[in-house]
Amino acid sequence: MKLLVTGGCGFIGSAYLRLFVPQRPHNHYTNLDLLTYAGNPKNVASVSALPNYDFIHGDIRDNELVSNLASSADGIIHFAAETHVDRSIESSSAFVTTNVVGTHHIVEAARHCEIPLLVVSTDEVYGSLDEDDPPTSESSPLKGSSPYAAAKAGGDLLALASHRTFGTQVCITRCANNYGPYQYPEKLIPVLVRQALDGKPLTLYGDGRNLRDWLHVDDHARAIDTVFSGGKSGEVYNIGGVPRRNIEIAKEVLIACNQPPDQLALISDRPGHDWRYAVDDRKIRSELNWKPLISFEEGMGETIQWYQSHESWWRPLLGEAGGRRGLLN
Ligand SMILES: NC(=O)c1ccc[n+]([C@@H]2O[C@H](COP(=O)([O-])OP(=O)(O)OC[C@H]3O[C@@H](n4cnc5c(N)ncnc54)[C@H](O)[C@@H]3O)[C@@H](O)[C@H]2O)c1
Repeated sequence: MKLLVTGGCGFIGSAYLRLFVPQRPHNHYTNLDLLTYAGNPKNVASVSALPNYDFIHGDIRDNELVSNLASSADGIIHFAAETHVDRSIESSSAFVTTNVVGTHHIVEAARHCEIPLLVVSTDEVYGSLDEDDPPTSESSPLKGSSPYAAAKAGGDLLALASHRTFGTQVCITRCANNYGPYQYPEKLIPVLVRQALDGKPLTLYGDGRNLRDWLHVDDHARAIDTVFSGGKSGEVYNIGGVPRRNIEIAKEVLIACNQPPDQLALISDRPGHDWRYAVDDRKIRSELNWKPLISFEEGMGETIQWYQSHESWWRPLLGEAGGRRGLLN
């Protein structure tokens, strides 16, 4: 099978490629990535010389390029997106052009080529929950709070509409926050590790008690593979994780980095900051038998160690990311 993978040089797309390119020599993977600030060829260095992998430097907003690549593919896994909530608050244009218009090109290509498409989306499209609300299900309303979440919801709706109107073979996954290696150092966990290693207070928005579900990126990659191979066309699948408050994550990082657990700095809150995300993922677990393989404790410990031992990967990226507040949704 020939797969077109978009955004494979980012955090999650590269985890998917590092896992499946070596494991599936009978498949061929073409990685289409624009190499924005978040895309890094080093993330896929371990697979770049393998015969069943190739890289195309290009933009999903280039409709002709997307159509041409799709015409020689048997399926598309669509990761490419602008993903940082803080950046979307500062300026949302690229979020609309990539996450909505770019996703539209991908959906149209899947439709015309009659090939299956998996759109990698996010639990942020459901918007914020209160402390005692039940987790969101796949049929919960879309109420994304940030331009990032709203643009992702736009892409999701275009994909579902194409299935309904034209019978395009589409599945959507909506996953919780991911953690793991190779995450751009503007996101919560790499930011906290950097601050801890530099002996600085760990900065948290608001009172730091915002609550998210957390999943290891490799478990997310396996869930995407499960939905692509066994999901029902036209369906959405939530992918959950383990609930932790941001302040709990920060304390784990401090302990792992041998810093005092109260070395924290609370800063003024992000505008429109969502209080809580939590998804009900019984559908993917019961219908497709997916479950995470990596425990939160094991995965988070290994992740913190990875950032501690890979300064040469993330330090050079700080020129661009370092001046930002760099705190995750
Ligand atoms: N990170 C999370 O916790 C999380 C959770 C759930 C869902 N998601 C979704 O998973 C997907 C991947 O997220 P990530 O964290 O790996 O993102 P990322 O920001 O690390 O990587 C995004 C990748 O897309 C590429 N890209 C951006 N615009 C492009 C364009 N116009 N054309 C081609 N390539 C382009 C970038 O170069 C980069 O390689 C996104 O769709 C995101 O919404 C992320």
